[in-house]
Amino acid sequence: MKCKYLDHQICIRTTGEFRLCCISREESQQYNIQTHTIEQWLNSDTHRTALKLMSEDVFPSACEKCEMEEKLGVVSMRQKTRVYGPGISHLDIRFGNNCNLQCVMCHPFSSSSLLQEHKKLGDQSPWGTIQVESLDWYEDNLADQLASIPTLKEVYLTGGEPMMVKGLDKFLKKLDSSVAIRFNTNGTIYNKRILDELSRFDYVNMCFSVDGIGKVNDYIRYGSNFDEIEQNLKIAIDKGFEVSLGPTVQIFNCLYMQELYDFAKNYNIKVYENFLITPDHYALQHAVIDLKKDLIMFKEYTNELANKQEKENLIRITKVFDNSRNIKIKDYLPELCRYYDFD
Ligand SMILES: C[S@@+](CC[C@H](N)C(=O)[O-])C[C@H]1O[C@@H](n2cnc3c(N)ncnc32)[C@H](O)[C@@H]1O
Ligand code: SF4
Repeated sequence: MKCKYLDHQICIRTTGEFRLCCISREESQQYNIQTHTIEQWLNSDTHRTALKLMSEDVFPSACEKCEMEEKLGVVSMRQKTRVYGPGISHLDIRFGNNCNLQCVMCHPFSSSSLLQEHKKLGDQSPWGTIQVESLDWYEDNLADQLASIPTLKEVYLTGGEPMMVKGLDKFLKKLDSSVAIRFNTNGTIYNKRILDELSRFDYVNMCFSVDGIGKVNDYIRYGSNFDEIEQNLKIAIDKGFEVSLGPTVQIFNCLYMQELYDFAKNYNIKVYENFLITPDHYALQHAVIDLKKDLIMFKEYTNELANKQEKENLIRITKVFDNSRNIKIKDYLPELCRYYDFD
């Protein structure tokens, strides 16, 4: 067996840690871009053992997600046909967790604003006692190391919010204009230095993480203003970037997705659904039965039995966030509130 990600990609977490790919589940390990070179990571036990096991047709334990999918007959990430290589051709980077938003389903490891809220909430925090600090690791010399990989063909930037990475324009400056640039962005930030730099690239792909239209988005992706996102989306389209929407499908937006498809149609852009990974209380599988019955889309995600505790968690955590943010869910998602007693 082979895996293009193991063979041809460098993936880095918000902490600066190297990992096998963006869905791998390896133990936290010592190799970090701040303390080790790319070559040291590629020669590490974790990486070499994973390659060796793959070549023997054995899935490394960190690759359990692909293994499970392939057992179920689903096309796994490993099996998706995309051209990688020769050499290290792809980067998948998070230059830290700096982010201006507090999306309900995200995590302090990915958002410094959620980290502040986590600290403020103390023992009410949905993330319990996790210890996270600010993870802004961007430095020119580290970015140089990544940008100077000679076989590079594509860079994927996510985060945190990539438009908030202070040196990102300098990193981009070092890349050849033939390198494909792909972003996952919350779309709230107009960063002229980054946008100007992007203009010289042959191909820029911007996936706007929009979870609904208007208030639906502003509630789920707290801190955002949908009108500003729409302005930035128009700018990206005018610049000739390939623009798409990447909603994270969950209980909070499942009733409102048609509006999002209509919006995308209006701009002639695609929608790539991203199904919620965690936490479970937002997952469609755990929606209350009446909501499951009324859903027109995503029925296949509601087949499994709901856990009652997750409903309690959803209500409790929604109240905690609403109090902390001084807002009320019923002012944003009134149709959903018919199925849950959030008061
Ligand atoms: C962590 S964000 C970082 C990039 C940028 N800030 C953004 O929002 O696009 C990357 C993607 O993960 C999605 N995401 C956040 N929480 C998620 C979760 N619990 N399950 C699945 N995807 C999630 C976001 O909506 C976004 O599309
Ligand atoms: S904008 Fe992206 S990184 Fe920030 S909180 Fe939302 S999903 Fe997380």
